[in-house]
Amino acid sequence: MTKVPTTRIDRLLGSLGYGSRGQIAQIARARRIVLDGVPITDVARRIPMTPDLTERMTVHGAPLDPLPGVVVMLNKPPGYICSRKDSGPLVYDLLPDRWRHRKPMLSPVGRLDKETSGLLLLTDDGALLHRITSPNHAVEKTYRASLARPLEGHEVEVFASGALVLSGEKKPLHPAKLNVLSATEARLSITEGRYHQVRRMFAAVGNHVEALHREALGQLRLPDDLGEGAWVLLTEAEIASVFAK
Ligand code: URA
Repeated sequence: MTKVPTTRIDRLLGSLGYGSRGQIAQIARARRIVLDGVPITDVARRIPMTPDLTERMTVHGAPLDPLPGVVVMLNKPPGYICSRKDSGPLVYDLLPDRWRHRKPMLSPVGRLDKETSGLLLLTDDGALLHRITSPNHAVEKTYRASLARPLEGHEVEVFASGALVLSGEKKPLHPAKLNVLSATEARLSITEGRYHQVRRMFAAVGNHVEALHREALGQLRLPDDLGEGAWVLLTEAEIASVFAK
């Protein structure tokens, strides 16, 4: 049987961003940390780190924040930056404020440009982040692009060729799938994550992307009912669907 790791309550709450050790002791003194219906008095107590803690513990009357190992799917609105420190709206502004103080911090799983919208994952699981972004796994990223000029007809073949070289680069792109939806709308699936890749691919065929929206990562699709700026926690099965072909 695998042993469940234990943690001090004040250390756990500190890592989830609830405050310093002193502040957490103060919250406990106010009887605002409750486990299984009983206020905690000794915050140095060690407890098993089981996933059901988020149902068994409340802090300030609200369920405990998700334990480390979080994967968030955010519907990123245009205009938000995938960075921790920048001027202007950040994707972190769309998550609970306390999460800025989590250790480890949530990081975007591959960046979307400021003006790109749609499916963005954030996680505190470094190994998972690496697996999703690693070229070895070739996770397919699907985008819907609105274009400034009508498609000319050769783009499907050019993108699928595996021979397209982006401006300033030497290595050709891996084949990519282009689905034409209308004269100026297309769905593009790529397995790499080069800088501004989709915008540069359309620029390479003489077009210009006016709006870009990520719809899917592997078999994980952005749900229609997840509004702009809204987010959900992913289940294990949803995380696995990122790697499904
Ligand atoms: N390609 C781009 O050009 N921009 C993105 O945000 C993602 C892929």
